[in-house]
Amino acid sequence: MKIFILSILLLSITTLINGGITSKYVRQAQPANEMSLETFPSPPGHNAPEQVHLTQGDRDGRGMIISWVTPLNLAGSDVVTYWIADNGSDVKRRKKKASTSSYKFYDYSSGFLHHSTIKNLEYDTKYIYEVGTDKSVRQFSFTTPPKVGPDVPYTFGIIGDLGQTYASNETLYQYMSNPKGQTILFPGDLAYQDNHPNHDQRKWDTYGRFMEPCAAYQPIIYAAGNHEIDFVPNIGERHPFRPYSHRYTNAFKTSGSISPLWYSVRRGPAHIIVLSSYSGYGKYTPQYVWLEQELKKVNREETPWLIVMVHSPWYNSVNYHYMEGESMRVMFESWFVNSKVDLVLAGHVHAYERSERVSNIKYNITNGLSTPVKDPNAPIYITIGDGGNIEGIANSFTDPQPSYSAYRESSFGHALLEIKNKTHAQYTWHRNQDNEAIAADSVMMYNRYFFPKEETARDCFIC
Ligand SMILES: [Fe+2]
Repeated sequence: MKIFILSILLLSITTLINGGITSKYVRQAQPANEMSLETFPSPPGHNAPEQVHLTQGDRDGRGMIISWVTPLNLAGSDVVTYWIADNGSDVKRRKKKASTSSYKFYDYSSGFLHHSTIKNLEYDTKYIYEVGTDKSVRQFSFTTPPKVGPDVPYTFGIIGDLGQTYASNETLYQYMSNPKGQTILFPGDLAYQDNHPNHDQRKWDTYGRFMEPCAAYQPIIYAAGNHEIDFVPNIGERHPFRPYSHRYTNAFKTSGSISPLWYSVRRGPAHIIVLSSYSGYGKYTPQYVWLEQELKKVNREETPWLIVMVHSPWYNSVNYHYMEGESMRVMFESWFVNSKVDLVLAGHVHAYERSERVSNIKYNITNGLSTPVKDPNAPIYITIGDGGNIEGIANSFTDPQPSYSAYRESSFGHALLEIKNKTHAQYTWHRNQDNEAIAADSVMMYNRYFFPKEETARDCFIC
């Protein structure tokens, strides 16, 4: 084991350029082949529920949206039964009906998509739930978060651009092998159905089945990526995000939003704001107006950690999707700095990168101050579109490494954000080809509101 870890460390010998690190890690060659449709058949049983997944169902974590799909819309197939686990003989089973829809897309007809929002759950409590009828009942469980509060430890997993390749499988099961992760933050690009002819919607189904062993047991907070748009006018599909919004819903109304594409939740010690790179965000647009109001509602005394998710990164020194996030950065970066956002998560680029705390808000078109500068009030930007999808790895960097880039690497993997209290959070990024115990990149993050100290990267090389 020691030899294995040592060899990984040697592989990870890195080069300092302008203070940042471009990892020399060489990922083992492996094509980004998708797992076939046949890899994920429907579960056995008449009208068995499938593609079960969870997301937060209210503002503060006492609600859960349970989603599942059935081939037919039979009596009872839209009902979830749930109860507190380990309550001895005092088991009160509750039932909740789902809202149900289906959709057609070109030559595809979906199953029946059920979403049931259960509310007023106890905090920090394990629940069992069942969906399905008769012999096709399937049982799952989840644990609610602790009550929102400043010193509540809580661990988020971070996975983006996952897809459904063999590499995606490695990433997901590596994440699941570690019991620390309690909720996933997912900054977009799920199934990659649109990489197939006519946006083969069966890939949404196989993705749902692929994710179920994780997604049925812990909530995933999603931001929408470009692969969720499914806008294909030449085959008559003219409504962006239609399949995605049928399949993945959220409690956007509880944060005053008019769209599931931008919203917020509070969970344990964190206030999480989700934005849409692919919706209007210019001045006067609904997203702009909502975000302006939302940032005023953040109460760092209650939720010290302020995290934003967006799909297209604002700081990205990989030679892919260059500047695609720039116009949104121009619109909102000063708000983030003024609000002392701790962390911004993005996907889209299929590599991993962590920024320094920098801002570029002094720049206007005439003053020439166009280089990002260190700014203790600025977020750390994480690009983590490295789940392992069909499009493969992004392996070309801008050279030299810009000073805002603290660490970058062409690998697939996931991250963990272990919030310890209102001042400290241990952040680690894990390559999916390493033992989960190895953190290829890590930093003890300090809260911008309570403890705005400068971080030292790699405080914890192996955690
Ligand atoms: Fe993307």
